[in-house]
This record gives sequence, structure tokens and C-alpha cells, in this order.
Amino acid sequence: MKKLIEVKNLSVDYITFDGRVRAVNDVSFDIGEGEILGLAGESGCGKSTIAYSLMRLHRPPAMISEGQILFNGKDVLEMDEEQLRDFRWKDTSMVFQSAMNCLNPVKTIEYQFFDIFDAHGLVNSREESIEKAKELLRIVDIPTERLFDYPHQFSGGMRQRVVIAMALALKPKLLIMDEPTTALDVVVQREILQKVYQLKEEFGFSILFITHDLSLMVELCDRIGIMYSGQLVELAPSKEILSKPKHPYAFGLGDSFPTLHGELQEMKGIPGTPLDLKNVPAGCRFSPRCFKATEACKTTPPKLLGAGENRWVSCHHPLPIDGEKIEIVQEAV
Ligand SMILES: Nc1ncnc2c1ncn2[C@@H]1O[C@H](COP(=O)(O)OP(=O)(O)OP(=O)(O)O)[C@@H](O)[C@H]1O
Ligand SMILES: [Mg+2]
Repeated sequence: MKKLIEVKNLSVDYITFDGRVRAVNDVSFDIGEGEILGLAGESGCGKSTIAYSLMRLHRPPAMISEGQILFNGKDVLEMDEEQLRDFRWKDTSMVFQSAMNCLNPVKTIEYQFFDIFDAHGLVNSREESIEKAKELLRIVDIPTERLFDYPHQFSGGMRQRVVIAMALALKPKLLIMDEPTTALDVVVQREILQKVYQLKEEFGFSILFITHDLSLMVELCDRIGIMYSGQLVELAPSKEILSKPKHPYAFGLGDSFPTLHGELQEMKGIPGTPLDLKNVPAGCRFSPRCFKATEACKTTPPKLLGAGENRWVSCHHPLPIDGEKIEIVQEAV
């Protein structure tokens, strides 16, 4: 699969009055053309910070301190303002964590579509804009006569569909969805994600999907990256990440989720609390909460290394699967 976006050793800091906080630390991954990659991990582990960095939407006090982001081989961190304007809607677009509230409450949906098309020189007239906007509403199953309504006249689920239609307005190659359906009920959530999946199949874009809902993620994604305290600790095909985790944190996450099938099981959770980023341990960041931790884990930070086919893990003592002996083979990008 051809790589669409490559993130190499990305580190992002927040410069606060209390000092520098490293919210994303040395993270590397890629997303293939047409692939859906999920990012999971507890609140504050840096998922949104990565999403914002990919589009260079981070603002002070956030600062990309290290690393490289390549989009189709182009260096995103080197782009000037003009290149960025094109990159942001034409190459990649984002549905934000609070997307439903992104719509301007005092403008009709029609105006807000026009605003996007006009800013990118895509239409010559208002009529042309209306036609294009109707086409987009159709693909997210919203009746076209609703185009002239205001955001408050839509339900939450419909507003979310409008925002997704807007994100697809310039046919981007990468759609970033940061908890796009968190505020919606599970049925609407599922309908919207099914629609997004259909559109992805039709148009062939890639998706970076961020959510707390691991079961939703496993259903939708091709691969999933698990983050802990600013670091990517495991990257694996979605079918394997919960059933055959290699990182103790991924194992703990799997144990914290109820399964729909099989026998009733007690949920165990992960003991301890998330790290204070101002005070991280010298070794592995998960070591204070890890049931496999040894002295080495407390002093030496592990690297994200290849561990089997299409699998990466950052752990000194990865969990074996079905009695296999894990051999760490190659260093990640
Ligand atoms: N503007 C800011 N100033 C200082 N620190 C920040 C700022 N924004 C985020 N952070 C810190 O950066 C870390 C990562 O935050 P981020 O929003 O990326 O987490 P997240 O994984 O998206 O969490 P959630 O699941 O709650 O959305 C957190 O510890 C957060 O406190
Ligand atoms: Mg977030």
C-alpha cells in the first residue's frame, strides 16, 4: 500500500508558565492510501495534539519541536502559508472533537458552504455553489431543501453530517476525525460512521480516526495505534490489537472493555492513574502501572520496534502470543 502520510519522530511541546510539557514524544507512524488508521488511548495522551500537528493547526503554546511530517512525499512542516491553505482543504481536512459546534450559528448552511468554495476559488457564482453544496448534502443523506436552514434547525446527528460534508467539499485525500461522534447516541453514531466508510470506499480517501470507543474503532479501522502519555506504544492490525495485544497497556485496555460476545467476564481496568506530563519517569512511561515492569523498565525508555508482521511495539517485555517467542526485528521509521 502506498504511503499517503508519514509521521517521523514527531515531538510536540506546550510551552506553559510552569515550563515545557512534552505532549507528544517521538511518535512515528504512517497511513496508507485508502487506509483507516485509529488512534486510541486515555484522555490527555496526545491524540488531538497529533491531529492538529498533521494539519499544522496547532497554535501557541503548542510547538512542534522535532520530527517530520510527509504528505505524498511533501514536507508539511516546510510549507508556506499559501501551500498550507491548499493542503488544509484539498489534501487533508478535519472533523473536530466538538465539530457540531463549529458551524456558525447565525449563517445558513448554504452560506457556510459558499464560504468554503469561494475561499478556494472553486465556484464562479452563488448558483454554482448551491448546486455543489446540494451534491454534498446528498452524499451524506440530508435532504437538499435543508440547505437554507440554520445550524440550530438540525439535530446533532444532522449537524455532524453537514460538518462531514463540508470536510469532504474539496475531495481531500486524508480525512482526520477527532472523536467525531462522541456527543451522539450510539445508533446515530454508527449510522454516521457507516456513511463515512461508504464514502471512503467510493472516493478512496484515507482516514485518521480518533475515539475513546475501542469497539467502534476495531470495527472501522484497518490498523490501530495505542498511545500512552504522549507516546505510541503499539501499532497493529485492528483485529489483533485487543485479541492479541503485545503491550501491557493495550492488554489492560482490552480488559477494561466489555465484550458483546462470549462469556460474562469481569472487567479489570488498569491500576494507577495517568502520568503528570511535567513529571515523567526516566524509563518506560507506563512502568509505574505495568504488571511486567522490571528494573530496566524504570531506567531505560523502550523504542517502538517491529515485532512480527505489520506489528510494532514499544516495550522491553512484550506479551507473547500463543506461546510465541517475540523477536524484536527492525526499528520503526
Ligand atoms: N493549550 C494547552 N496548553 C497546555 N497543555 C495542553 C494544551 N492543550 C493540551 N495540553 C496538554 O497536552 C496533553 C495532550 O492533550 P490532547 O488534547 O492532545 O489529548 P487527547 O489525547 O486528545 O485527550 P482527549 O481524549 O481528552 O481528547 C494533555 O496533557 C493536555 O493537558
Ligand atoms: Mg482530544
